Amino acid sequence: MHDLTKEVWVKYDYKDWLDHFKENDKERLKIDFAEEPQLTEEQGKLIFKSIKAFQMGEQSDGIYLAELAKKFEEEYKEPHYAETMNLFIKEENYHSAYLAWYLAHHNEPKAKKNKLDKTFRKLRHDGKLFTEIAVLVTAETIALSYYSALGNVADKIGSRDLRAICNQMLHDELPHIVFQTYTLSHFGNKRSQRFFRRFVMECTTLAVYIMYGKLLKAGGYKYSRFHGDNVTYLKQSVSMAADMIRTA
Ligand SMILES: [Fe+2]
Ligand SMILES: [Fe+2]
Repeated sequence: MHDLTKEVWVKYDYKDWLDHFKENDKERLKIDFAEEPQLTEEQGKLIFKSIKAFQMGEQSDGIYLAELAKKFEEEYKEPHYAETMNLFIKEENYHSAYLAWYLAHHNEPKAKKNKLDKTFRKLRHDGKLFTEIAVLVTAETIALSYYSALGNVADKIGSRDLRAICNQMLHDELPHIVFQTYTLSHFGNKRSQRFFRRFVMECTTLAVYIMYGKLLKAGGYKYSRFHGDNVTYLKQSVSMAADMIRTA
């Protein structure tokens, strides 16, 4: 686990975030799968179900998010937010692409629909940026545990490229949590907001474990660790948001 509250990102404003995403965009992961091993049926069964779900989840609702970002930018007089959000969306679409390449290499079709993904998107789309970002950052937090677990499984099956994908995801997603936290801090620190975030985290943690617990367990995440890490990251985010308001 990382202590995000100690990272330099907690001091970033949107101009810094814009530079951060521009810098990330200069170099993206390249993978050729030249050394990718042939997977056994059992290994495939273990990893593909959740990879397909996360491949879908990483695909961003670009237009919807961009519209909300434009509104937020005007309302809160944050001139860099919309451009930063566009680069964030681009980065998320790369994440989706990495997993799609991996599936394509193994001739695995992408998922056409996923119940959890559908529920997530419905929950997010209430027209408010707070809800959108609060739900999004929950998914990103859970993704930290998932990609850590998947990386451990990649080591076990000897896939260097899948390990590289997971490392790239973790590298990009850790700052995302702080970036979304900064946006959430603009909406204050109400009890109802903290309750909503905890509620969404509890429900999602349980649902994800029910669906993809086999992979998480194989990657070293029993339910207690998975739940504990997710809640600890949530607490870090809530405490960072409170500090960001104080120092604003
Ligand atoms: Fe992502
Ligand atoms: Fe993300």
